[in-house]
Amino acid sequence: MVLISPSILNADFSDLRSQIELVNKSEADWIHLDIMDGVFVPNISFGFPVIKSIHKCAQKPLDVHLMIVQPERYIARFAEAGAFMITVHYEACTHLHSTVQLIREAGAKVGVALNPHTDVGLLKPILNEIDMVLVMTVNPGYGGQKFIESTFQKIKDLRTLSSDINPELLIQVDGGISTSNIKQLHEAGVDVFVAGTFVFQSENPTETINMLKKIA
Ligand code: DX5
Ligand code: ZN
Repeated sequence: MVLISPSILNADFSDLRSQIELVNKSEADWIHLDIMDGVFVPNISFGFPVIKSIHKCAQKPLDVHLMIVQPERYIARFAEAGAFMITVHYEACTHLHSTVQLIREAGAKVGVALNPHTDVGLLKPILNEIDMVLVMTVNPGYGGQKFIESTFQKIKDLRTLSSDINPELLIQVDGGISTSNIKQLHEAGVDVFVAGTFVFQSENPTETINMLKKIA
């Protein structure tokens, strides 16, 4: 399966509606929203009012990536704002199992993200209770960073692990994704590709999204 989830982090926020429309008319599957609190990551992005506005004009499901501490405090509100998938960081959840349940109860799909240094084996006990693992391919916090090559091995290890425990599990990558690595990542076992800078700094974001989908 190949799903493309363009990240609007590096889009033009002064004209957000037209940026969303570029995604609407593309073959993108989801829209990726990066929520940063300035504590878990050294950057602040946007919150509920912006998500609600995007939900009004987006024709694709909202894939919400929470880079915040204690995400359990806000799960219900992200679901109400329109999130279809809610991804929390393993490193930000003291009681991950309970946070996973909260996401389910809120009616959203469950994703768990791993920072580049976090071992995929740590998710083994919970792998059959979640829908997606997001393997970060840069350190979270900013768009436009260089892809970390060592994450290839993590993806392969995770695919092997999940084939026994949860064959339906989606593997998502986020950070430094472009036409130069998408095919190889797909072969390694990735299903869902987040791409921000490569899409929104291109001349024609709609065509760039379609190209990524075709190449993978
Ligand atoms: C980084 C974010 C990413 C980011 C990806 O913390 O999670 O979603 O927007 O951006 P690019 O594709 O520019 O690396
Ligand atoms: Zn992200």
